[in-house]
Amino acid sequence: MTTPVRDALADGVPPLTGDVLAIRGGRPLRGRVDVKGAKNLATKAMVASLLGETVSTLRDVPAISDVAVVRSLLEVHGVRVSDGDEPGALVFDPSDVESAHFEEIDAHAGASRIPILFCGPLLHRLGQAFIPDLGGCRIGDRPIDFHLDALRKFGAIVEKLPSGIRLSTGGARLHGANIHLPYPSVGATEQVLLTAVRAEGTTELRNAAIEPEIMDLIAVLQKMGAIISYEPNRVIVIEGVEKLRGYDHRSIFDRNEAASWASAALATDGEIFVGGAKQQEMLTFLNVFRKAGGWFDIQEDGILFRRDGELKPVVVETDVHPGFMTDWQQPLVVALTQANGRSVVHETVYENRLGFTDALVKMGADIVVHPRGLQDGPRRVPRRDLEQAAVITGPTPLHAADIVVPDLRGGYSHVIAALTAEGESRVSGVDILSRGYEKFLTKLDAVGADFDVIR
Ligand code: EPU
Repeated sequence: MTTPVRDALADGVPPLTGDVLAIRGGRPLRGRVDVKGAKNLATKAMVASLLGETVSTLRDVPAISDVAVVRSLLEVHGVRVSDGDEPGALVFDPSDVESAHFEEIDAHAGASRIPILFCGPLLHRLGQAFIPDLGGCRIGDRPIDFHLDALRKFGAIVEKLPSGIRLSTGGARLHGANIHLPYPSVGATEQVLLTAVRAEGTTELRNAAIEPEIMDLIAVLQKMGAIISYEPNRVIVIEGVEKLRGYDHRSIFDRNEAASWASAALATDGEIFVGGAKQQEMLTFLNVFRKAGGWFDIQEDGILFRRDGELKPVVVETDVHPGFMTDWQQPLVVALTQANGRSVVHETVYENRLGFTDALVKMGADIVVHPRGLQDGPRRVPRRDLEQAAVITGPTPLHAADIVVPDLRGGYSHVIAALTAEGESRVSGVDILSRGYEKFLTKLDAVGADFDVIR
């Protein structure tokens, strides 16, 4: 059944399981979208609320399904979650934290990877934790070995079961540790922070991730009473304290969503004002955007994005912060199919994050994925075996196709490709987009996209 767009958009209802978008492309997207708090901070700050003795308030929480998953997991562990004193604020009361049953945890863990971050806080609160098998986007193996190695160094006893991971403190308090991450993993850095803040003694974390969302999590933990210092060369030192209190914090904005809409303006030759976007956290993106033929105007309350004449090819390598984020490349690749010449996007963070280009090729793009990546200059982290590179030759007109969304950022790029292509495309699996894009259909409508929801 085709649901008229207006009905499907009521109250910002997200794309639902089974929804298919019938998208008629070929016209520029123009308008305003507002981005709220970052998915990759909000969900972690919610977990941090477990560590406090008093109530926490998080502001600008995006209404996305990853937030809903973490909320449910907090609730099954006895945290009372309620609305705050302004729209988008959530209040977490952890005074009655308790062990949850395996079935309950499993039922609520959903497709998210955030549950792994419950380990440290639950070990401090309850002396034990159970983490079910993890979901998340299908963008590679996404192992958790760094997490488990770190937890063992804090003194946790880790038992791997077919259904998940059981952890316990063995009755002792977790203690500080010296940890050197093999790679500056975002999740493993957060794991160490969330565990070290209440461990006995000092923790020194080397080769830490330093993404802005991690700095914001450090700010949250400091508000709670933690002592965390950021030393040169990716070293973070945490002096453990016995107790933490709640926090009141406004989340950093979602720079991944902001970059997605910027690339949508570039690909469709439109003009999008992204309310809430800020320059500092997007410096690297903005450089590449400009080199690719984009124009932007930084304003007090957001950034205006559009093209500046013909699109130009670029060579980009995804990297850890302050490099070009792996979450930025997928929508940009759609724009690069319209650039005059050969672009290269070298993915160095995940081993399988270029699979989304198959759909673009089906739509007429000239993209070849090289499984070994490129051998070029020095970089922030050592080269790994898992790298891949996409060579995109443009401009190629895109035509409509029936496509299936593979993951969050790849899925966004499919929608943008359909909006760039002539004709009507059918995009299925779009419910994945609600993991990270708040009010996605409402925002598409706000920038003038021509689509129906088939429900
Ligand atoms: N890795 C390991 N072992 C580990 C942990 C990571 O080998 O124990 C590897 C991964 O396989 C990957 C690399 O290290 O090759 C980097 O992974 P990282 O741990 O940094 O990623 P993450 O914490 O799982 C977060 C975001 C991702 C984002 C990456 C990189 C969340 C919930 N997810 O993932 O966001 O791409 O950092 O910045 O914060 C998204 O928003 O769509 C998304 C996937």
